[in-house]
Formats: sequence, structure tokens, C-alpha cells
Amino acid sequence: MKFTVMTLFPEMVLSGLNTSIIGRAVNAGIISIDAVNIRDYTNDKHKHVDDYPYGGGAGMVMMAEPIYLCYKDILDKSSQDGSEKKPRVIYMTPQGKTFNQSMAKELAKEEELIFLCGHYEGVDERVLEEIVTDEVSVGDYVLSGGELPAMVMIDAISRMVPGVLTNEESGMNESFEGNLLEYPQYTRPEEWMGKKVPEVLLSGHHANIEKWRREKQIEKTLKVRPELLSGAELSKKEKDFLEQLKKIK
Ligand code: ADE
Repeated sequence: MKFTVMTLFPEMVLSGLNTSIIGRAVNAGIISIDAVNIRDYTNDKHKHVDDYPYGGGAGMVMMAEPIYLCYKDILDKSSQDGSEKKPRVIYMTPQGKTFNQSMAKELAKEEELIFLCGHYEGVDERVLEEIVTDEVSVGDYVLSGGELPAMVMIDAISRMVPGVLTNEESGMNESFEGNLLEYPQYTRPEEWMGKKVPEVLLSGHHANIEKWRREKQIEKTLKVRPELLSGAELSKKEKDFLEQLKKIK
């Protein structure tokens, strides 16, 4: 899978995605990540990419033309590489649809994705109308630019691309897909600061461990993200357990 990021800060995007699991996937050639500097597409001798907003108001607006030329260049290169389909273009904005795990899974089916990172107060609406297929937010807060959100999306999407995670790592996504949060984890030593590892985890009794972990997941989800529980698949016994928890609360 190929990711291309249109940005004013290409080094930020590339340096943030070259370690750990994503770096390993890039090195293995399973995914590729390219960052293209929008500033390279300005015709202005001072290399301006932004201007004052029509109608007045605070801040600057990114101009349509450099973004459009940057996009065209990416498309040209992608069709030279043999790609026939026009890739989806995702504009990172707090005004977009909120990103989640199921969106990551869906987008991982694409062969190629282009991200547009805005800065300043916004981007000229006309270029958004012309090239953008999806507007996505990473949460209800405002960041200084779209780079961190694009990096967040690329990380989460890449993990859903076959071959990026080892079998062992794959299991770690299951919790969220099942609409439950993770159970707590422990490693050595058995006692730390007077706190003991829960007895059941030392028992070697796999069925009991599994049951305990599921219950911990249900407890945690009820405590911090109760709205997720309506989408969780629970057995009859687990539903009873949840009802008991609700009564205690
Ligand atoms: N750009 C600035 N804030 C953002 C957010 N929350 N999500 C996506 N893009 C953004």
C-alpha cells in the first residue's frame, strides 16, 4: 500500500513514521510512505503558499494553486507507476468525520491514499472541492496542522494491511474491534511496591485466565467507555456479569 502526504513539513511526517512496526513494514516493502512539499509547487518568487482571507478575519489561508499542482504531480507519478484508479484524497480537518478503527480497516483495502495536511486558518475551499474525497478528523480538538493527524491515520491503517503485523501482534487489535477495551497486563516481578500480580494469572489455568481477562475488559469498558458496550459481543454469562457490575455501581 502506498501513502503520499501533501504537507509543508515533509521531514516531520517521514521522521515520525520510520520506527517500530511502521518502519519495519516500510523496510520490508509492504507499505511505502512519501511526503511531498507543497511549497515546491508555488510560482511565487518568495515561495508563499498562503494569503489573506477574502472577507477579512484572522489568520492566513492556504492557496489553491500550489496544492492543486502538487496533487497533479502525485497523480502523474502514480499513473506512470501503472496505477489506473484515482486514489482517494483525505483532507485532515477537525470539521471531518471522526476517525476510528473500522475506518482504518476500510481504508486499508485501498491500494493508494493521498493525505492533504492544512496549516494556518484553513485551505481555499475551491481546491478542496476539486480534489478531496474524504474529510477526516482525529478528534474534537484543534491541532496546529494536519501532519500529526495524517501520521495517526497512516499508523492505524498500516496495521490493518496484511503482513504488517506478525501473528502475535495481530491479536492486539481484536480488543477494539470487539468494542471492548484491553485487560490489564503484568510482567515480572511478581510483587512490586507491595502490589501482587493477580493470582489467577500465575495459576496456569487457561480457561480461568481467559474468563478473568474478559471480565476485566468489561469492567474497564463500563468504567471509561460505557457507550461502546452496546456494540460488544457478550456471551449470556458475560451479560449477566455486566448486569451485576451495573447494580454495584
Ligand atoms: N487539523 C487540526 N486539527 C485537526 C484534527 N483534530 N483532526 C484532523 N486534522 C486536524
